[in-house]
Amino acid sequence: MAKARIAVVGAGLMGHGIAQAFALAGHEVTITDAMMASLASVPERILANLRELGDDESALERVHPSPDWVATLRDADFVVEAVPEDLPLKRRVFDQIESAARPDAILATNTSVIPISKIMGGLNDKSRALGTHWWNPPYLVPLVEVIGTRWTSPETIERTIALLAAAGKTPVHVKKDVPGFVGNRLQHALWREAIALIESGICDAETVDTVIKASFGLRLPVLGPLENADLVGTDLTLAIHQTVLPAIDSRPGPSPYLEALVASGKRGFKSGEGFRSWTAEAQAALRARLLRHLKSARGAVVPPPAGEE
Ligand SMILES: NC(=O)c1ccc[n+]([C@@H]2O[C@H](COP(=O)([O-])OP(=O)(O)OC[C@H]3O[C@@H](n4cnc5c(N)ncnc54)[C@H](O)[C@@H]3O)[C@@H](O)[C@H]2O)c1
Repeated sequence: MAKARIAVVGAGLMGHGIAQAFALAGHEVTITDAMMASLASVPERILANLRELGDDESALERVHPSPDWVATLRDADFVVEAVPEDLPLKRRVFDQIESAARPDAILATNTSVIPISKIMGGLNDKSRALGTHWWNPPYLVPLVEVIGTRWTSPETIERTIALLAAAGKTPVHVKKDVPGFVGNRLQHALWREAIALIESGICDAETVDTVIKASFGLRLPVLGPLENADLVGTDLTLAIHQTVLPAIDSRPGPSPYLEALVASGKRGFKSGEGFRSWTAEAQAALRARLLRHLKSARGAVVPPPAGEE
């Protein structure tokens, strides 16, 4: 797939960004959405991103929005679905995708946590279907988790990894189709304990975030937890786990503290209050700080060792 034809279904936060990443890599991209307003704003959103990052604005010429599903899908080599995280909706969308796409096109879902086999279980040909989990913003965060199901052909996995790697992404192969894949399991194991610390009065929300940002968070871009465990010694890691693991949160469901926040309307930025209070200025400052950081980290991510995907 030197220069591929990519189709993106769902032109929201992730869909337009995935389209941008593929177009920047030189691929022709068609994109569709059920909402005209969302589709119509794709060019201006991509242009604003390209300008903000100083990237080649001519990439926009390779992005072709269309409300017509058939026109969007019929020539594509690779289809990415990025509609909302709703299993019945995704299954319906893949019924439509399968009937409009070429029989040899690869079909990928960008679900965040839903097992891929639940989404793809109704397809006639499941061997060409898989998950590609991009991270937001897709044109700045390098990782894409590539998740096969028990039906996915090895060739589908290989072609997808090659396509993503050639587009400058960091694809990793997730070998079992489990909820949350790798990244969101790790991320939400940390969030569960972060919430439990507040819930049990050990510290406040600001302290949780400061502890992470001013300590091991600084090391994470160059030192993964398993590299870190080897660095300090597996024997020390074992001794720490013998004391700490029995004390940390291991409840199977969401925290009642989180459930109470949501029930009381404290939904974070959306309502101005969540774990902490957020003025419009504070929200804008946090978003700007994140973008600055991700821009400065561009290209700095350590690639996986040679021999691994
Ligand atoms: N937001 C993130 O940080 C993030 C990160 C990784 C993965 N994801 C996943 O990516 C997917 C999309 O998330 P998002 O944040 O871009 O959502 P979004 O709400 O920003 O965009 C979804 C788009 O899909 C469109 N849509 C809805 N129904 C449709 C249909 N039947 N056909 C075509 N288009 C339809 C909507 O109009 C909207 O433009 C979800 O599965 C989400 O879990 C999100």
